[in-house]
Amino acid sequence: MKIRLLNFLSCPFCGGFFRLHSFLARNDFETCVTNIKCCERFCGLKNRLVTDLHEKIDEICPFCHRIEVVDGLLKCRCGSIFPIVDEIPRLLTQALANWRQFLTKYQREISYYVDLKRITIESYQGEKGRTKRIFSLEWQMLSPRDPVWGMSIELRKNAFIEGMDIDPVMLKNKILLDAGCGNGTLSIALSDFGLEVVGLDLSLGIEQANQYKKEHKSSKSGYVHLVQGDILNPPLQRKSFDFIYSAGVLHHTPDTEQAFRGFIPLLKSGGRMYIWLYKNIFIFTGIINILRWFTTKTPPIILYYLCYSLAPIYKLISILPEYSHNHDSDEVRTWFLETGFKNVTLRSVGPRGFGMYGDRI
Ligand SMILES: C[S@@+](CC[C@H](N)C(=O)[O-])C[C@H]1O[C@@H](n2cnc3c(N)ncnc32)[C@H](O)[C@@H]1O
Ligand SMILES: [Zn+2]
Ligand SMILES: [Zn+2]
Repeated sequence: MKIRLLNFLSCPFCGGFFRLHSFLARNDFETCVTNIKCCERFCGLKNRLVTDLHEKIDEICPFCHRIEVVDGLLKCRCGSIFPIVDEIPRLLTQALANWRQFLTKYQREISYYVDLKRITIESYQGEKGRTKRIFSLEWQMLSPRDPVWGMSIELRKNAFIEGMDIDPVMLKNKILLDAGCGNGTLSIALSDFGLEVVGLDLSLGIEQANQYKKEHKSSKSGYVHLVQGDILNPPLQRKSFDFIYSAGVLHHTPDTEQAFRGFIPLLKSGGRMYIWLYKNIFIFTGIINILRWFTTKTPPIILYYLCYSLAPIYKLISILPEYSHNHDSDEVRTWFLETGFKNVTLRSVGPRGFGMYGDRI
């Protein structure tokens, strides 16, 4: 992660800014953008709020955009600690315990901050355990070069512009959250519009995203930050984003509306939020629900090969995840209106789902 990202990250337990303890870092001149944006709230280089700095922020930020932290720790004042492993901040509960190789490699450094005996090795379980495993498997089986949902990257970029109902010129120098970014191919492509993008995902699709980002180094790819985290408890600062985009994600959480409401504080006033959800199709939903009774009880790897042998993966993927809710547009419009949005507009209506956006008042 670039040190710049600390301006946006927030502790999932208390909402505070993290202090960075870097174990391994490198200078990344190649992807350092020329017209950098200065951090507005927190300076990761000085580990201080911007308001408490003695130096001028525009003299510091060229470095915070350039330094890539490969391995390290993020520590909050509330005591919580999360690892940065292979350039990605891992902001899931138990993340430190789950990266055993990282724990072994940096045993000495970590023991300075935390009592290693108190770290219990238990995998990230609970409700999201299966969702994480299923999507991790799904993205690992797909190459970032393969079409996603049957669409080339150009088509997906167009779908983004169409869904957001925006002139691409308006995206320049704005900040976007791609919530549930999967393998990150879209997040990375969207930086072509001059956007600074934060891609957040629960699954190991985030590894693919980082690999793909490295292969697509350009002066713009420095503007894509990748975070492993949970949208139900987003590890991001309030009012950080001009745009939030979340395609095909919220309905895979236990409660779509709750997940929707969880995002709203992250959006700036006047910011636009777009979501795409499955729609209610009576017969289709009935069949899918019967199939899901079977698929939620079958080991993911068996399921994968079963689906693979039956049809192209993108056609059957919707029956794999543990949660998959269907909604109708009037219901979703109500969520937008009840939570302080105007210009609520239905977009991208297709056979399987629909998109909707609103502008935060
Ligand atoms: C159907 S995919 C859509 C990916 C991407 N938005 C796209 O259009 O290609 C759903 C994604 O949501 C992610 N996801 C599901 N629940 C999540 C959660 N609670 N927090 C973060 N990501 C989640 C999954 O890991 C998966 O990558
Ligand atoms: Zn905290
Ligand atoms: Zn900065």
